[in-house]
Amino acid sequence: MNKKILLKLEKELIKAAKLQDNYDLSTINLIAPASPTPLKYFFNTVLRHNAIAEGLLGHRPYAGAEGFNIIEDITCKLACSIFNADHANVQPHSVSQANQAVYQGLLENGDRILAMKFSDGGHLTHGLKINFSGRFFNFDFYGVGGDGLLDYKSIEKQAIQFKPRMIICGASSYPRTINFKKLASISKKVGAYLVADLSHPAGFVATGKFPAPFPSCDVVTLTLDKTMLGPHGGIILCKDSLSAQIDKGVHPGVQSSVPLRRIYEMANCLLDVSKPWFKNYISRLSKNMEAFEKVFSKYPGLMISNGTDTHLMVLNTYKVFGLTGKDAEALLEGVGILTNRQVTPGETFKPYIAGGIRLGGSWITARGFNKQETIAIAQIIVNLLSNPQDLIVQQKAKTKMLKMTFKIRKNDVWSEEVIN
Ligand SMILES: Cc1ncc(COP(=O)(O)O)c(C=O)c1O
Repeated sequence: MNKKILLKLEKELIKAAKLQDNYDLSTINLIAPASPTPLKYFFNTVLRHNAIAEGLLGHRPYAGAEGFNIIEDITCKLACSIFNADHANVQPHSVSQANQAVYQGLLENGDRILAMKFSDGGHLTHGLKINFSGRFFNFDFYGVGGDGLLDYKSIEKQAIQFKPRMIICGASSYPRTINFKKLASISKKVGAYLVADLSHPAGFVATGKFPAPFPSCDVVTLTLDKTMLGPHGGIILCKDSLSAQIDKGVHPGVQSSVPLRRIYEMANCLLDVSKPWFKNYISRLSKNMEAFEKVFSKYPGLMISNGTDTHLMVLNTYKVFGLTGKDAEALLEGVGILTNRQVTPGETFKPYIAGGIRLGGSWITARGFNKQETIAIAQIIVNLLSNPQDLIVQQKAKTKMLKMTFKIRKNDVWSEEVIN
């Protein structure tokens, strides 16, 4: 590539980054997994070199890993203490990879797994045919009942019939708590491992606002970037008896080198999560979700399962407003509110269209928004969804949203004062 083109690309790159940054500061982000990770985790000045090593803690076929081992060990200890686990592996690059490592460590190709249906909340890595999980393992799926809640009796029946080697719970869009004790008794009955993918409610688990997965579950996977205000990456927690299999599942199972800098960032996030302000943040987040519930409950059938116990909820926009998720998402984005289209239980549309939207409160809470402001956002949302063709409603909403984003620009730099 010649010098002129390189220079042009360099300029375009900076321009695109600024464009995205500006967009992030002038929109209200309700995308459920989004949270503004504190920049302090990324700009640490201690680890200046891009050190590299692979292998498990204490068994690295690389020289010069002394500091590496200590950092990873502290991170594992913090994760175990926060989630009450026997063993942690903090190496996976993401939760998709963590899930892959769990299957690799505990199962053989073709083994049976019982997981939650995609339309009812399950994740791509919980058995979709287009994903490695659905290609290499034999999945059956459970769902929610007419009330949008997990039906443990029917899960038990299905488990007895299907005889899985693993049952997976935890989801991308199920807004309610999970009864791990009931699932553990089902798993025990059929001799299956119980694995919980707690990517989404991790911050609630860490602060005791969601049932504790241990000792009921055998394995838990999670990330810090959805509700823990931390960096992206995967963590696997497990019982002592499975530690060797899980570690092998990660390396050499699915991963080679270890992301040292990210593990260091994770350790700093886990230290912060152990401080009182984080509990305060999660309780503010719950209050903001109650504010959403208050407004949306005026529209019967809008909220799947009638509300939420966590940071996310799913709105059935097609049922209540005749708008597909794709159209609702575009309408809201038009006034500066970001959500994502979402399939809903009993879905008739393809996932790219979907019958609903998913929204969450992590990002606005971390940006300092309170209950009154959340109510105002919710009212704008229902007003827009009820009047999708009304340009005056849209213009008014746009102006209001822009005013609200002033606070985001003011609170641009993350700080504990804003969070509290
Ligand atoms: C339940 C669940 N598991 C796994 C993942 C995948 O996580 P990652 O993007 O870290 O691979 C997600 C992503 O949103 C998720 O919602």
